[in-house]
Amino acid sequence: MADQSPRLTTAFGNPISDNQNSITAGPRGPVLMQDYHLIEKMAHFNRERIPERVVHAKGYGAYGTFRLTKSLSAYTRAKVLTEVGKEVPMVARFSTVGGESGSADTARDPRGFALKFYTEEGNWDLVGNNTPIFFVRDAIKFSDFIRTQKRDPRTHLKPHWRRWDFWSLSPEAIHQVMILYSDRGTPKSARFMNGYGSHTFSLWNERGERHWVKFHFHTKQGIQNFSAEEADRIAGTDPDYSAADLSSAIEQGDFPKWKVSVQIMPELDADTYRINPFDLTKVWPHGDYPLIEIGEMELNRNPENYFAEIEQSAFEPSNVVPGIGFSPDKMLQNRILSYSDAHRYRLGVNYHQIPVNQARNAKVQTYHRDGAMRTDGNHGAQVDYQPNSFGGPVEDPAFAEPPLRIRGDAARYGWPNDDEDLYGQPRQLWSKVLNDGERERLVKNIVTSMGDSPRHIQERMIAHWYKVHPDFGRGVAEGLGIDTRQAAAE
Ligand code: NDP
Ligand code: HEM
Repeated sequence: MADQSPRLTTAFGNPISDNQNSITAGPRGPVLMQDYHLIEKMAHFNRERIPERVVHAKGYGAYGTFRLTKSLSAYTRAKVLTEVGKEVPMVARFSTVGGESGSADTARDPRGFALKFYTEEGNWDLVGNNTPIFFVRDAIKFSDFIRTQKRDPRTHLKPHWRRWDFWSLSPEAIHQVMILYSDRGTPKSARFMNGYGSHTFSLWNERGERHWVKFHFHTKQGIQNFSAEEADRIAGTDPDYSAADLSSAIEQGDFPKWKVSVQIMPELDADTYRINPFDLTKVWPHGDYPLIEIGEMELNRNPENYFAEIEQSAFEPSNVVPGIGFSPDKMLQNRILSYSDAHRYRLGVNYHQIPVNQARNAKVQTYHRDGAMRTDGNHGAQVDYQPNSFGGPVEDPAFAEPPLRIRGDAARYGWPNDDEDLYGQPRQLWSKVLNDGERERLVKNIVTSMGDSPRHIQERMIAHWYKVHPDFGRGVAEGLGIDTRQAAAE
């Protein structure tokens, strides 16, 4: 070897003498089939791509720690939420939703905020977004909604009228649509946005008591967003802007941090609270259930290899630890099943063995065996059925979640109910939270996006904005050149 460089080998360690010239019959070829090195290179390359995530395909991530500052032991037995001061290692992945894996980071889209905490009681995944709510509240509508964000089957283009058609026929979406078209729809990067568990989850303690909980991650860097014009420009000039922003901050030792808080609701409040607390299109107003600060999350280490550690990461709401549970939220219920199913398709049945997905601080003892690409020794000689009399792992009733009271007749229950206020929280956002400039930009962003919609879709949508607030409806109608008196009367 000419220098101290490591020796090049085949995938099986056989030294390679020449990586520049294939074996040919004479200097002008043809190529001999015996050039196994050439074939290995070609065949591996042909198989390099794995399916991208069906949603949230474009992303980036980093490792970090979560440190608890306030114990939630009154509510939960989960060590990650009760052992004050302990640092729990974690990994985060941030993403846009609708674009392909090469799409621009600055697209107007919710941002995924997926977290995996490697706790000593197993992995706990919180797979949230940078918004506290969502567009739909029944998973039966999820794939339809996502299609409106993706490409038209005929043209393979992404006209916006498809989304406005769906949203105008799905009024539960308008709260999230307002956040999407507000300044928060184009965050600068993960460092400058909040994250939310979004769903209602549950906490349960050893006394068998259950509380409902929502998780909030507030950026300590402050919220920073791009204007619509900046976001569009950067999409063209620097489509990986946000990924680069996070990794260079970490590289420079400027570790981003988030304040972690919870809202907690006693189990029985859910029966009488004026809002359905399991409706993913609504927040719990802070005035009703105040934020309780419980800790801090910091990101402080970049991955060494994007594909190995971020592309192959697999987050799943079904990963919970004793003391943290689910809720009747119809979306969450479906997500509990959907993610591991998607991972088995995208990464294979043994995806739990990929290092970033391993329960690195808990011992894994299952009766699963075999499957494609099993690489961990397959539990060796250990007995592979249960019950058994050979010392195999056994279940422990001490980890049983308290029973959940459920009642009601099985049926497909339509929303909205007659007495439901679909427009109240969007109105709060318009009137109480946004300032004049933010309202103006919200209207402008919507008008720009609705420009390609047929008139009947524009009118149907404007009727919703009027119900949120007359100024809002009027602003959008005027922007689209629609007679405001007629629109108001719809
Ligand atoms: P609050 O006044 O207590 O909360 C308003 C919240 O709105 C803020 O705490 C902040 O949440 C968020 N917010 C601030 N500026 C913006 C903005 N420009 N765009 C979007 N969100 C912003 O009132 P309520 O709790 O009664 O909520 C009122 C409305 O605020 C809700 O209807 C909802 O639309 C919105 N909201 C509420 C949240 C909640 O969990 N209660 C969370 C986010 C929005 P944060 O501190 O999380 O950034
Ligand atoms: C990714 C399904 C709603 C946040 C995904 C993936 C699927 C999926 C199949 C790809 C998983 C993969 O291949 O790794 C669903 C379904 C939903 C739903 C069926 C509704 C029923 C939501 C909601 C949120 C959310 C409400 C946030 C509150 C995410 C995030 C990712 C993701 C952050 C990317 C995770 C990562 O970075 O790997 N979703 N989703 N999803 N979803 Fe959902």
